[in-house]
Amino acid sequence: MLVVSDLHVRYGKVSAVTDIGLTVEPGRITLVLGANGAGKSTTLRTIAGLVEPTAGSIELDGESLLGVKAHRVVKRGISLVPEGRQVFASPSVAENLRIGGYSSNPEKRTRNTELAYDLFPILRERKDGPAGLLSGGEQQMLAFGRGLMSDPKYIMMDEPSMGLAPAIVDTVMGSVREIADRGLGVLMVEQNAEAGLLVADDVVVVNRGESVFSGSAEEARSHSSVVSAFLGEEALGA
Ligand SMILES: Nc1ncnc2c1ncn2[C@@H]1O[C@H](COP(=O)(O)OP(=O)(O)O)[C@@H](O)[C@H]1O
Ligand SMILES: [Mg+2]
Repeated sequence: MLVVSDLHVRYGKVSAVTDIGLTVEPGRITLVLGANGAGKSTTLRTIAGLVEPTAGSIELDGESLLGVKAHRVVKRGISLVPEGRQVFASPSVAENLRIGGYSSNPEKRTRNTELAYDLFPILRERKDGPAGLLSGGEQQMLAFGRGLMSDPKYIMMDEPSMGLAPAIVDTVMGSVREIADRGLGVLMVEQNAEAGLLVADDVVVVNRGESVFSGSAEEARSHSSVVSAFLGEEALGA
């Protein structure tokens, strides 16, 4: 289990996260909803070891991750699919996947490459072409596949639906569900509540750096006023 408690993070004088708590369990999707600037990306980057928290705890299966460097966090089994995909444009699709699996042995790399191609057959079709020629949705699929290459137990996804057409969002969300059903714990951050709630099990709503709601996806849907109060009506497709 991945457990974050009382997380505080500052960038110099700016408090980005003032009190965020969440839990991610194997085989389940925890969805973090919050408006732009709420502290979602900072939370993921802190768990990934890219930013140091000023207070709070981050524990993976009972062991603290505080002070653990980013590449060691990956080794411990937590992978981050960053905001904006960040695929390498010139290298091929296959090369982008290989870069994601740099720390794995060849056997795992082959297995995870096949997993990515099975989840997203379009990546297999395009594997020898430059990643920069993929559409936005395909680049999100590639970023997701690349995140799976390190053989994670937990995968964190930062706004996977951003900028994608609704039909593509459904495909990406469907594959997020499939990955969780295979036993991974998923921590997904979204401004698009409607998209995230299609597949989430557990929901945390954050507002200005604080968790203000935490419950099952069913509770979040039935308390849609809670969600819309912090995200705006449009987040629920109203
Ligand atoms: N590198 C940074 N330096 C200074 N302030 C930052 C930095 N990154 C984010 N912030 C600030 O921290 C707050 C939370 O940002 P962020 O975690 O990116 O929110 P979200 O992902 O929910 O949109 C915002 O006020 C943002 O302006
Ligand atoms: Mg963000």
